[in-house]
Amino acid sequence: MKIAVFRKAHFNAAHRLHNPDWSDEKNKEMYGVCNNYNYHGHNYDLEVKVVGEVDPESGYLIDLKRLKDIIKEKVENKFDHKNLNLDVPEFANWPTSTENLCYLIWDIMQKSLGDQYEVTIKLWETPRNYVQYPANG
Ligand code: NI
Repeated sequence: MKIAVFRKAHFNAAHRLHNPDWSDEKNKEMYGVCNNYNYHGHNYDLEVKVVGEVDPESGYLIDLKRLKDIIKEKVENKFDHKNLNLDVPEFANWPTSTENLCYLIWDIMQKSLGDQYEVTIKLWETPRNYVQYPANG
């Protein structure tokens, strides 16, 4: 029996969208307030969807305590109260967009949980704007 389990989480982080190959004018035009020189913060909401087969002995798809702990250790501890541009090595030369952050969280969670699960990440940057990876997950 294939089934989906969901876990929600939250973190806040600072960032700045800025492409060093562009002029200041083009950065401002493309990124608006997200280009603010001294960074700005977002309250990110996260939903992790895990799809797989229920284990017939335990009745579980995944132990939710384990899922909670992995999200805490690998995602919240990595991003919460951090500056994405300065504190997260993956973003050294990669725009700190919600799209890229969503993909990075997916990569972390998929590798942590393993191939027996299909992970989908939804990441809210604001209550009205959110991103999902994979697109059809
Ligand atoms: Ni922003």
